[in-house]
Amino acid sequence: MFNKFLSKKLLEIENTSLFRTLKIIQSNSATTIKINGRNFINFSSNNYLDLAGNQEINKAAINAVEKYGLAGTSSRLVSGNLSIHEELEAKLAAFKNKQASLVFPSGYQTNIGVISSLMSNEKNSCIIMDKLNHASLWDGAKLSASRIFVYEHCDMNSLEKILKRTNEYKIKLVITESVFSMDGDFTPLKDFVELCQKYGAISMVDEAHSTGVFGKEGKGLAEVFNIADKIDITIGTLSKAFALQGGFVCGSRRFIDFLINKNRAFIYTTAVSPVLCATALKSLEIVKKSDNKRQHLHNLSKILKEKLNSLKFDTSKTQSQIIPVIIGSIENTENTVSSLWNEGIYTPAIKPPTIPKNQARIRISLTSGHTINDIEKLYYHLYRYKTSEII
Ligand SMILES: Cc1ncc(COP(=O)(O)O)c(C=O)c1O
Repeated sequence: MFNKFLSKKLLEIENTSLFRTLKIIQSNSATTIKINGRNFINFSSNNYLDLAGNQEINKAAINAVEKYGLAGTSSRLVSGNLSIHEELEAKLAAFKNKQASLVFPSGYQTNIGVISSLMSNEKNSCIIMDKLNHASLWDGAKLSASRIFVYEHCDMNSLEKILKRTNEYKIKLVITESVFSMDGDFTPLKDFVELCQKYGAISMVDEAHSTGVFGKEGKGLAEVFNIADKIDITIGTLSKAFALQGGFVCGSRRFIDFLINKNRAFIYTTAVSPVLCATALKSLEIVKKSDNKRQHLHNLSKILKEKLNSLKFDTSKTQSQIIPVIIGSIENTENTVSSLWNEGIYTPAIKPPTIPKNQARIRISLTSGHTINDIEKLYYHLYRYKTSEII
């Protein structure tokens, strides 16, 4: 019975050409990776500051293993709350210009826990989402069982219309990303927070892809637009520019106290490993000092985007290190990816349901470990393929 049920489910996926398999990476996941014994330039990782495998971070991990061991041992509310958790959270809060923060085992868990705990069982409340928000934000919203309203991607007129329409709801939570994970574009954050304030809504901004990359000391886009103190809930991850694993939320002390009491994704899971805390403290120290790396990364992003646009590739509205090359059909996207693969370039094909239908794309993510030569090789082969095939 189970096998029959599974076969039916798998066939449904196979029929849509959306069946996914795992690639095995035989090296660490940095700028150059080894797959099937071959080396590839990796344009698929979120290791934006090239800190994966960083020696200082590795040393911090070894020292922490010797001091604490790896285990979290129990929930933070039982006996898992070590002073190193508190130290990391105080530093992350200061980094994001907030009173307090809370760390989770992943960014995904952070988002589903924060949204669902805040909005569950809240009568007369609704959640308002950017159409292209990340799956973890959607899953949190769905888990809360609140009414969900959606505005057009990054469109503040559309957001205002929804805010007016939802006037009768007493509690409104408006959620966006600052840099969008699949399009690399920015929310107009100043207008976003002004609208939230005007209509008495709670603002939540996920800075997963801007933390470490934008702003003085890599504090994120809220810092660039000088509005960090106006955002009610800020989300970050340790899994991208920090090159580790884990997520965090920052906000007022009272909000974090509420989460400690009500957030099931925090309460009913084992404390994150003290080794993660020690490495995150080291990574944070390095991220803050990495302005040269940020400049190099922004420079590479600008050059690649300009080059691709001059070759008539659609890179949507990216303003960041995430550069989508929108191809449209799944088949053409996969063909392009495999032609790059043949040249030793690894770029992932991003297909629905991760992105909207007919917008299959290659998601290029640059890191400060890339060189001008790497990106020249990438656009040369993309262009060569474009002129030899119709994509
Ligand atoms: C915007 C956004 N938020 C949250 C996450 C989840 O973070 P993590 O990978 O740490 O679970 C991601 C991951 O890709 C993301 O893009």
